[in-house]
Amino acid sequence: MNTSMESLDRVERKVSFFKWKTEYELGIRKIDEQHMKLVEYISDLFVISLEKNKIEMMQEVIDRLFEYTEQHFVFEENILKDAQYPDFNAHQLTHKKFINQLIEYRQKFNEGKIVPAQLVVFLKDWLIQHIQGTDRLYIPFVKKIGL
Ligand SMILES: [Fe+2]
Repeated sequence: MNTSMESLDRVERKVSFFKWKTEYELGIRKIDEQHMKLVEYISDLFVISLEKNKIEMMQEVIDRLFEYTEQHFVFEENILKDAQYPDFNAHQLTHKKFINQLIEYRQKFNEGKIVPAQLVVFLKDWLIQHIQGTDRLYIPFVKKIGL
């Protein structure tokens, strides 16, 4: 396979593993943009996981994803506070649980106890489920404050 074919194949695999879908949209622009960025991080991780000598690069992206996720959760929680979202505590708890799981997965990954695929599948499944199951519930409350 020549180089351009190879990179095209890589791009296709990246896109098909985890692609932003309109059904993930909450209709709250800033939050949707941040969720898109999270999808991008997870897609990047998947693509890197197919490479040789991937461990160090993956660790770097995992750290960046971790940092970005923390910032995103703070951003979202501040909006939910402003909106006086009645399920704020439960929502915040799901964020905290995810952060703890992410710490655990990162640790296991760094120790070679899980394979890259387990990590990326966990991230993808969690994000889809969170956006479509949990985040969706706050839409009417956030809309009420004009976002
Ligand atoms: Fe959330």
